[in-house]
Amino acid sequence: MSKNINWDDLSFAITPTDVMYRSVCGSDGNWDAGEYLPYGNISISPAAGVLNYGQGLFEGLKALRTKDNKIVLFRPIENGKRLEEGAKRICMPPFPVDRFVEVAKEIVKRNADYVPPYGKGSLYLRPCLWGTGAILGVAPAPEYTFMVYVSPVGPYFKTGFKPIKLVVTREFQRAAGRGTGNVKYIGNYAGTMYPAKKVKADGYNECIYLDAKNEKYIEEVGAANFFCIKGNKLMTPALGSILPGITRKSVLQIAKDKLGMEVVECPVSVDDALAADEAFCSGTAAVISSIGNIVVDGKEKVYCGGEVGPITRKLYDMLTKLQLCEESDPYGWVVEVK
Ligand code: PLP
Ligand code: COI
Repeated sequence: MSKNINWDDLSFAITPTDVMYRSVCGSDGNWDAGEYLPYGNISISPAAGVLNYGQGLFEGLKALRTKDNKIVLFRPIENGKRLEEGAKRICMPPFPVDRFVEVAKEIVKRNADYVPPYGKGSLYLRPCLWGTGAILGVAPAPEYTFMVYVSPVGPYFKTGFKPIKLVVTREFQRAAGRGTGNVKYIGNYAGTMYPAKKVKADGYNECIYLDAKNEKYIEEVGAANFFCIKGNKLMTPALGSILPGITRKSVLQIAKDKLGMEVVECPVSVDDALAADEAFCSGTAAVISSIGNIVVDGKEKVYCGGEVGPITRKLYDMLTKLQLCEESDPYGWVVEVK
């Protein structure tokens, strides 16, 4: 690991690496053989569908270095499948899931020097699927590009691993009931920048979005799924207009199998969250981030005195240990990059 990177100072920011991947699909609907290229700028038509009409999706997954210096990915097939689902919704040709997984492994191998040392962070993979063909009318582009670039990253929230402070926004909504909230559509994200900027200026890490119809049920925490715990019950908003997080799905499984918790996917009202003992959010970038406080309509709920809750801690430890091959993986979720 000879790269000139300060591994102790990683944040969730882009650090250029050596290699990226690109494959192109023409109007015949066939993906070409693909190529690994030096990381750098790409050339694109100003009339590209992705630039004009937002025809694009992205994914996010991480490669980690284990204590015994292996490099592993977590459930890459799930990212491949989610991209495939999203492609249907945004009218793009799916990139084959088996190729997605092969590229994920190979791109990590080719950038292995950028996988941080054990315990120092991860190599974040950012697969993208874009309509890159030129198109003037609002219609699917005639050409598509699948790209993967990578970057070493540290914690997603500026607080690091300290509990985060959130506010429920009544001013903004993230996704409509049958809109695009359930796919990793690029257009879902720009709309969350202004709300995030506003709440950050008030000292919060992010905002909690409520459902657009009733404005009563919690949807998501920016780009992470919401959970709360009451007694032995783990609650998370049911799928619908939220992103079906891979970490979310993994946490539900682990909580049930390894902690014997009752896991419930249901509408989670603001009142449910306020009555809970613990709360956290989950995501590839966020991992499991403990929530210390939530402010709703000017009132503040503090969980566990603002410290990481005991069950949240257990779930974090179990998930991260499983991801690092330090806890049994009966599911076959961890994929070694050799
Ligand atoms: N919700 C949104 C809106 C996201 O962008 C993400 C990140 O991918 C998540 C939730 C968490 O999903 P995952 O656990 O698959 O990373
Ligand atoms: C992820 O968790 O991978 C995300 O995509 C979140 C965010 C960086 C958009």
